[in-house]
Amino acid sequence: MQTHSKIHRLLLTGAAGHLGAVLRDRLQPFADVLRVSDIACMEPASSAAQEVVICDLADKAAVHALVQGCDAIVHMGGVSVEKPFEEVLEANVKGIYHVYEAARCHGVRRVVFASSNHVTGFYKQTEKLDAGVQRRPDGYYGLSKSFGEDLAMFYFDRYGIETVSIRIGTSCAEPANRRMLSTWLSYDDLLQLIVRALFTPGVGHTVVYGASANRDVWWDNHEAARLGYVPKDSSEPWRSVVEAQPALEAGDPMLVYQGGFYTAQGPFEASR
Ligand SMILES: NC(=O)c1ccc[n+]([C@@H]2O[C@H](COP(=O)([O-])OP(=O)(O)OC[C@H]3O[C@@H](n4cnc5c(N)ncnc54)[C@H](O)[C@@H]3O)[C@@H](O)[C@H]2O)c1
Repeated sequence: MQTHSKIHRLLLTGAAGHLGAVLRDRLQPFADVLRVSDIACMEPASSAAQEVVICDLADKAAVHALVQGCDAIVHMGGVSVEKPFEEVLEANVKGIYHVYEAARCHGVRRVVFASSNHVTGFYKQTEKLDAGVQRRPDGYYGLSKSFGEDLAMFYFDRYGIETVSIRIGTSCAEPANRRMLSTWLSYDDLLQLIVRALFTPGVGHTVVYGASANRDVWWDNHEAARLGYVPKDSSEPWRSVVEAQPALEAGDPMLVYQGGFYTAQGPFEASR
């Protein structure tokens, strides 16, 4: 990957999670010091260039202490699947507010926010979207990411803190089902997109989709191209294996909606 000048201290939240673990060592070359954080236990620091901080995003004072001294933030932490509202509220709504308020107070000028394709999950798979489309969240999780994008916009308009919100499709080692043939984002492409988001000047608040160069992608990702993002991977090598899976029934949300089965989760409380 093209070299960039380094960020002095870069904060990675959600570092104990699936993508946090993928990104931890890969982001290290882009920072003098990488501060990694999660509410869960993490591997100890692998060198003096890493700092490991346990922090609950819902704890305002702890988040202020976490962000102090950092120059940029890759915000991956929080609830990452559909859950009852109260759980999502703590980690994703209060949590991202704490991150931005701490960023404002401590002079952080750039955030990369792990948003989600679930902010537009109720669009049909037959529709092609760009990042400017009206959001149609497919659950409380998607709503929290939609709030996060609005918060990022507000903190840019009001305080000049720049953000790239990445509506990640499905970032995993290999696409595992038909939906992922469209939504898959390889780890290398994820890293490339995050690095572009960190170092491209003048992004304001930019929203992009996080997908590899998949044949049947549902998103017009010209905003990502403006960041210089050129995906290198594609789900095509897995197509024949995935298409050999048993067919889904007509009307299955995994075939109909971009958000797949997220559109059919809940309610979480019994009707009264
Ligand atoms: N993996 C994907 O395909 C995908 C797709 C769309 C969006 N995303 C987003 O990317 C980010 C990372 O995804 P992931 O797959 O690694 O998820 P993950 O669930 O594996 O990781 C999230 C991490 O956040 C931590 N966390 C949860 N609540 C917290 C709190 N209150 N305080 C501090 N940390 C807390 C968890 O302990 C976990 O380690 C998430 O924000 C997710 O919503 C991921």
